[in-house]
Parts: sequence; C-alpha cells; structure tokens
Amino acid sequence: MDASVTSTTSTELTATDASVLIPGPATPYQGDIARYWDGEARPVNLRLGDVDGLYHHHYGIGDVDHSALGDPEDSESEKKLIAELHRLESAQADVLLEHLGDIGRDDTLVDAGCGRGGSMVMAHQRFGCKVEGVTLSAKQADFANRRAHELRIQDHVRARVCNMLSTPFETGQAAASWNNESSMYVDLQDLFAEHSRILEVGGRYVTITGCWNPRYGQPSKWVSQINAHFECNIHSRREYLRAMADNRLVPQAVVDLTPATLPYWELRATSSLVTGIEDAFINSYKDGSFQYLLIAADRV
Ligand SMILES: C[S@@+](CC[C@H](N)C(=O)[O-])C[C@H]1O[C@@H](n2cnc3c(N)ncnc32)[C@H](O)[C@@H]1O
Repeated sequence: MDASVTSTTSTELTATDASVLIPGPATPYQGDIARYWDGEARPVNLRLGDVDGLYHHHYGIGDVDHSALGDPEDSESEKKLIAELHRLESAQADVLLEHLGDIGRDDTLVDAGCGRGGSMVMAHQRFGCKVEGVTLSAKQADFANRRAHELRIQDHVRARVCNMLSTPFETGQAAASWNNESSMYVDLQDLFAEHSRILEVGGRYVTITGCWNPRYGQPSKWVSQINAHFECNIHSRREYLRAMADNRLVPQAVVDLTPATLPYWELRATSSLVTGIEDAFINSYKDGSFQYLLIAADRV
C-alpha cells in the first residue's frame, strides 16, 4: 500500500448524513477494503478530480491529445498533463454510460462501488434521473454526498455505505446498474445475483473491469502484482461470462478496451503522479495476460 494510504477504523462510520450509516462490514476482508478507501488520498485521484469536480477512481481511455499537453519544458506542463489524464478518465465513464441504453428522467440507476461519485454525477447530468451509489467507505460516501450538495443535485444523487452484495434496493427497482472497476473486490456469482435482483426485467447491467485473459492460461505475475497493490482479486474473462449467464444477465456487447487504455497508462507513467503500479498494467496489457473489458448485459 502507498504511504499516502493511512489506516483508519472502518467501523467508525462518522457520516454526516444519516442516510449513509450502516453497521460494520460483512467480512474482515470488507473491513480491509473499507479502511483502504477511507485512507486513500493519492494525488493522482484528487488532483485530477480538482480539474472540474468530477472525482474518479478508475482509469482512462482514448487517444492522448498531444496538442493539449504542449511543451514539457512549459511551467504549466504538469497541470496540462493532469487535465489530459482526467479527460481520458471522464471519457471512460462516458463510454460506460453510453452502454446503459435509453434511460428516462424517472428511472433509478445503481452505481455499485461508487467511489467519490464522479460517474454518478455524470449519469445524472446525462439522463436527469436518480442515481444511487454504494461504497464500503464512509469517507467516500461523505465526499460524494458533499459534492452532490455543492452541485444542488442531492435529491437525485446519493451515496450510501453499503455492501453491494446485499443492497437496500427493492427487487426490480433499477432500470440499469453498473460496476466501474469495483467488481474485483467481490465474488461474481454473489455480485450478479444482486444486480439481477435489483434490475427490472429488460434492464441493463454494465461493467468496466480489468480481467485476466484465459488465453494466457493463469494470472500472470503482473496480475498478481496488481492484486497485491490494490488488495483485490482480479477475475478472468471466463468467470465474468459464466457468472452472468448463471444470473440471467445476457451479454449484449463485450468490448476489449485494452488498446484504448494503453495510451492513458503510457502518459501516466511519464507524470510525477506515478504510484509504482504503472509498469504492471503496461506489461500485462502488452503481453496479453490482462485485458480492460466492457461488458454490457441485458437482464432477461
Ligand atoms: C477502484 S474504486 C472505483 C470507484 C468508482 N466506481 C469509480 O469509477 O470512480 C472501487 C470501489 O469499490 C468499492 N467496493 C469494493 N467492495 C465493495 C463492496 N463489497 N460493496 C460496496 N462497495 C465496494 C470501494 O469502496 C470503492 O469505492
């Protein structure tokens, strides 16, 4: 874990908003993950979010706009690089939201593992609908709710501290739901059973995730490094498709975003915000052991 990630007590849920309070984590592992995200304050996440107030904890996709970066000797070059990385991260969320299909203003969406809420805000701005997020981290939920208040969209965008495997949402309540880089913390059968329960029939589920490639054989050493760095458990592409099939989620699109995310990583590796995990991502994407995948599925 990076030095910037400090330890706090996960069960001390000192949330400012009563709607975000829940009892402690369901398992010791979830307690570890709650502590991890409660203590997370990496500049690579916060400084990028400061660009326009959309705070993401995911990676970027798309071509780098080199004209926006300018001259590396320029005193503004670091700022420009941060803005460009952030643009690519928001482009990633846009692609996820595009795959949610036709969403009306009266619909409810669920962001499972919502982080600081950047994707939730973008979803509300795009569709005008309600967006409910869940995260294990009280600090993240507070942060997301504070941003929603600042933007005066608190009636539409709300984060709660809650286990995504056992949510308070009603059966069939959600028109669409998603995991944006948050499915590697949970068992996929349990996860998709819960999405399947909360989604209306005909609803849409979307995930963007890193997964290991069954064609490689087993998780590579790079994948193991990524797991250790983030205290997560990356699943294979095969596990995703199998667990979806078992839970009435039928893939409508499977998009390999690996080539689209490599420029982001190569740019990030040149910045002062490196976290030390960049090479593991670049090497595993290049040797084919790891893939960045979007799967959009219909709840049937
Ligand atoms: C890499 S961050 C992604 C955040 C957000 N989706 C984004 O794109 O910015 C992973 C998130 O998953 C959440 N998470 C992990 N396990 C969870 C669980 N069992 N229930 C709810 N949230 C969980 C963490 O709290 C964290 O917010």
